[in-house]
Amino acid sequence: MGACQMLGDKSIAHRALILSSWFKGVHTIYNFSNNEDVLTTLQALEGYGLNYKLESNILSVDSRKFIFKKGGINCNDSGTSARLLCGYLSGANVKTDIFGSEGLSIRPMNRVVKPLNAFGRDIQSNKGLLPLHIKPSLNLKAFDYDLSIPSAQVKACLILHAIFMDGVSTITGKIKTRDHLENLLSHFNYPMSSSDKKIKIQGSKRVNKNLIIELAGDISSASFIIVGALLLKGSAIKIKSVCFNKYRIGFINKLIDMGADITFENQKTICGEEVADISAKYSPNLVGIKIEQDEVPCMIDEVPLLCVVAAYAKGESIINGVSELKIKESNRIEAILANMKKMGGSVKVRGDSLIISPKNKLYNTTINSFNDHRIFMTFYIANLVSGQDFSEGLTDLSYKKSFVNFFDILKQVIQ
Ligand code: S3P
Repeated sequence: MGACQMLGDKSIAHRALILSSWFKGVHTIYNFSNNEDVLTTLQALEGYGLNYKLESNILSVDSRKFIFKKGGINCNDSGTSARLLCGYLSGANVKTDIFGSEGLSIRPMNRVVKPLNAFGRDIQSNKGLLPLHIKPSLNLKAFDYDLSIPSAQVKACLILHAIFMDGVSTITGKIKTRDHLENLLSHFNYPMSSSDKKIKIQGSKRVNKNLIIELAGDISSASFIIVGALLLKGSAIKIKSVCFNKYRIGFINKLIDMGADITFENQKTICGEEVADISAKYSPNLVGIKIEQDEVPCMIDEVPLLCVVAAYAKGESIINGVSELKIKESNRIEAILANMKKMGGSVKVRGDSLIISPKNKLYNTTINSFNDHRIFMTFYIANLVSGQDFSEGLTDLSYKKSFVNFFDILKQVIQ
């Protein structure tokens, strides 16, 4: 059995970095991944005086000279950086411009700008897109907000905004999404509470505290390796200490419902996050599955992978409520349709649903990643299962956005 460990989860890392700037001190983040998205957040914070050193996946951070000042940040291709930092910097009430790559500049920012402006902040966008211009505003006050989109980025944006307000802010509505920020804040005894129904955040002055954070392995990256193991004859892998947050393992739970041979052990909590060792074995008898709209947020980044698995299952699969996929790094619905069609698969769109018919075997082909890391890795794995490994001479490096050591891990456990 091939065994491996994932570098730190991208979502947790963004949040850990922002909190390392807010808590004044000298911090250590273990299992840090130098993927492009997370480096974007790190470099944005560096512009405000955050010092850091990265050695062998251990990030040392000194935020004692970090100050909120007039500035501008380049969020490159990272939607998480743009949305979280918009809430954070507008809460700190500094004049800031937020801009990014061409790809990021066509992704919606109104989901964070609208609520913040409704609270009386002064944020101008380019018709709901980047660049954003944040201007200081008077009378910043705590707020109550009923979240209508199940987006962890919007939720985290609002929490990071609330920590600067006088008094208690509340967030209700569609908050059942990844709660890594809530977990980290609670772990460091920040005055807040959260349940499935309501989050309450007490505003606070910056606190002097040295943080030690160990990042759980990235479950979204692990999912590619798990699918490789399930579909490649004779495979068996074990991935140690992976993030096992209940809002992140929707895909793994559905794979089990489909008949996948997946088991967990060594469940424990590190820095407020559940982790577990996950083992997966070749599973030739998968069956189709139906996913309901309210189940999608807990597997939002794994929907393309689920389409590939569903092609190898007996019976049709239906994934309802997929519209958010249109506004990810690419229009993932179009990217799934295009790549599955090229591979001889059968996926249809009906309203807001994807319907995948069984195929038993997909054919290998060239991938069009649409410059989207998750589309690239999904169809890389699909090609590998079809018997083609074209890692030689590869020019598409989109995977580095989230999973820098994708090929090293694949070689270690699968090929
Ligand atoms: C993320 C939340 C999700 C996810 C993205 C990372 C986060 O986006 O797709 O890759 O770190 O909060 P949404 O909040 O837009 O669903």
